[in-house]
Amino acid sequence: MSAKLKINKPTPIAPGEDLVRFDSNTDIRETLYAMKAGKSVLITEFYSNGMLLLKELQKHLKIRLPNKTIKEQHAFRAEYHRLSNLILLKITNQEVAVDKAPKIGWLHTLYTGKNDFLLTFPEVQRLNSAWQKFHKGVKVPVLRNKVHPYYGVYFPTRFDHLTLFDNWLKRYEGPKKSAIDVGIGSGVLSFQIVQHGFQKVFGTDTKPNAILGLKEFMGDTKLSRKIELNYGNLFATIEKETELIVFNPPWLPAISNEENIDEAVYYNKNLFPKFFAEANNKLSEDGKLVVLFSNAAQIKNLTKENPIEKELAKGIRFKLEKCLKKTIKPPVDKSKRDKKVTALEEVQLWVLTKI
Ligand SMILES: C[S@@+](CC[C@H](N)C(=O)[O-])C[C@H]1O[C@@H](n2cnc3c(N)ncnc32)[C@H](O)[C@@H]1O
Repeated sequence: MSAKLKINKPTPIAPGEDLVRFDSNTDIRETLYAMKAGKSVLITEFYSNGMLLLKELQKHLKIRLPNKTIKEQHAFRAEYHRLSNLILLKITNQEVAVDKAPKIGWLHTLYTGKNDFLLTFPEVQRLNSAWQKFHKGVKVPVLRNKVHPYYGVYFPTRFDHLTLFDNWLKRYEGPKKSAIDVGIGSGVLSFQIVQHGFQKVFGTDTKPNAILGLKEFMGDTKLSRKIELNYGNLFATIEKETELIVFNPPWLPAISNEENIDEAVYYNKNLFPKFFAEANNKLSEDGKLVVLFSNAAQIKNLTKENPIEKELAKGIRFKLEKCLKKTIKPPVDKSKRDKKVTALEEVQLWVLTKI
């Protein structure tokens, strides 16, 4: 693993002269108009002043901007994003420099040695909620221990696909020398694989935070000798063949050609063809290729295509051993009870073997 990995974190802003100050006595309307003219606002006095200004901004835009069609909603969100990011907080001695602000450990971890800078209010809110998850840990039903997702790293919020994988692992009777977990994220699949007796897992990810976060979490424990981390695209620099490859890829196709898509959620058109081509070289002759997927993109009408079916239809590298499916119970939502029932979401576990 490269020693030079650089953690991703919100960029600190140098404190400038030209800031509008906002406290509980400041005129809200005037502040909002200053923001619309492009001025940045520094929250002073209490953290809750920032919450208040955000709420008032939302109200202000709701009255003034249409928000019905998809295009309008997109424009509304873009404007809210633009303006809310003009609301700033000062960070002094690794703490948010207003009263009654949450204590956010990431400010210590990510900004060691950096003092007196500004972050946007939404970034501070994201750092705070990420800190709560990391600090308290997230209980995942199929795992013995809690997961501690590092700042900016994907972690599961629903667990049906993990249950499918766990049931499959229980019945797996092949060799358990080594496995590859492509896109390791917060490590859940690797932890499951280790829990089921595999001796070694090679985990990759394109996000430095995933790799560095897990490295820090595992430290010098027994786990760190079982899970080897590899920063990079797909199989990164892994040279070994393994008897199990697992990939829980992004489930939605990227619609735009934007460069900054969230690679944990959206896939570009090259991801799956490249993945299957490389997997073919890394899977041992009798190995199993397990891909976790869902019909989310299809029921949202984003695509009719399923990239795994597309690969199988080529009939050149892999054949289907089985596909396990589990329907996800929709949340009880009174407001939608009487509306036409839309297709149910299902998670899928695809097991492919070499032709
Ligand atoms: C849906 S998340 C799954 C994370 C974890 N395996 C799990 O099941 O909770 C997808 C992960 O794959 C990573 N990823 C996306 N594209 C990748 C690629 N081309 N190569 C390696 N990792 C990738 C993302 O950064 C993210 O951590």
